[in-house]
Amino acid sequence: MSPASAEAATDMVAAERPHLHSGSGRVERLLARFHQVRNFTNALCTGLEPEDCVVQSMPDVSPTKWHLAHTTWFFETFILKKFVPGYRPEIPEYAYLFNSYYNAAGDMHRRDLRGLISRPTVRDAQRYRASIDLHIENLLSNADEKLLDDIEPILVLGRHHEQQHQELLITDIKHVFAQNPLYPVFRAGRARHSVRAEERTATECRPYRFVDFEEATVAIGHDGRGFAYDNEGPRHQALIPVFSLASRPVTNGEYVAFIEDNGYRRPEFWLSLGWMTVNEQRWQAPLYWTKHDGAWWHFTLSGFRTVDESEPVTHVSYFEADAYANWAGARLATEFEWERAALDGPIDGNFVEDELFHPAPTAVASAFSAEKTAQNEHLHQMFGDVWEWTRSAYSPYPGYRAAPGALGEYNGKFMCNQYVLRGGSCATSRSHIRRTYRNFFQPEKRWQFTGIRLARDPA
Ligand SMILES: [Fe+2]
Repeated sequence: MSPASAEAATDMVAAERPHLHSGSGRVERLLARFHQVRNFTNALCTGLEPEDCVVQSMPDVSPTKWHLAHTTWFFETFILKKFVPGYRPEIPEYAYLFNSYYNAAGDMHRRDLRGLISRPTVRDAQRYRASIDLHIENLLSNADEKLLDDIEPILVLGRHHEQQHQELLITDIKHVFAQNPLYPVFRAGRARHSVRAEERTATECRPYRFVDFEEATVAIGHDGRGFAYDNEGPRHQALIPVFSLASRPVTNGEYVAFIEDNGYRRPEFWLSLGWMTVNEQRWQAPLYWTKHDGAWWHFTLSGFRTVDESEPVTHVSYFEADAYANWAGARLATEFEWERAALDGPIDGNFVEDELFHPAPTAVASAFSAEKTAQNEHLHQMFGDVWEWTRSAYSPYPGYRAAPGALGEYNGKFMCNQYVLRGGSCATSRSHIRRTYRNFFQPEKRWQFTGIRLARDPA
């Protein structure tokens, strides 16, 4: 996406923007947040060319163009078609092309064939975004309080849905660029939070330690204040036996020690399915890692560079996280242990707004936490940087019921064969993450910013 085309789309909205009624503070607030999220998606595409936006490098990856259109289809399908009397889509075929997995919303194009669609063009997708944004503005600007009550929950869900796709857009374009021998750069440099090497050396070798937690019965799940996905409830009591949690995630340097101790060639550390995957896929290191002249290098969104040993290791599967923990004489935390440990600390860290697009070294990450409670002084990088694999299978909380209709397909139907990850990553929005947030992926997936934090039982 060239900046020019993004600007053209924005100008189109500005030129035709309806005038809001006076006293419409609620509408202005809703629209401000709506546009903030929509504009950030466009901003992420600054610097991308149309050719970048159409590639699908593997079935899990969607082209940037598809993300731009699918997030727009969400607002059109679940808001405009439902709440605008007589609404007629300008291009009805988009409903088939840009539905992802909502069976109740109609048939859909095959996910693994998204990269074969050259039309609509990237520019068409931007026009679609601008057009739907304008319809949303018109609808909200003329809505009474009762209608706003009906629309607001879906509008908020659509915003969070788009933030999820922003993260996927970033991890997907990383996978696309990583296939290219020219190693294109998504964002140059590490401008905002870069640190000099001499500032890092003091902390980069600081070992992690284990923070102890007594047995307790803890309320797990969202308390109903503010937005949450349905999979974060119902809130319920969970008995959490005594455990210890590592003070920070596993670093690249620590992971290199596992590799050099033949970790990828010793079946005793691996789950059976993990060992099968290691051998089938010939894994020898995290995704994007290569060895050159005796040194580890990896592809990042800022280009190809040597592995910094003080950064949290990322792009590892659940299988690798579990094998590393076994090698280290530890285990992964349950999602309940993780949530309990995160209860007292601030939600602070290296998120997508920091524009590093990469996990920060420990020294930098500590600087992100301006405000610390006593507990959190001991736990670093719980939020942001890397999603932390837990050993908890992604399954429903006691009493969970998916909502009826298409939006009920958002989470519940994926509760099978996946593991829960916690805490968000460097590609997650700060306003999107929560202590109760449950992300989930299949155990062999590696293209998200996924990492490892160790836990252990009492000796
Ligand atoms: Fe989606």
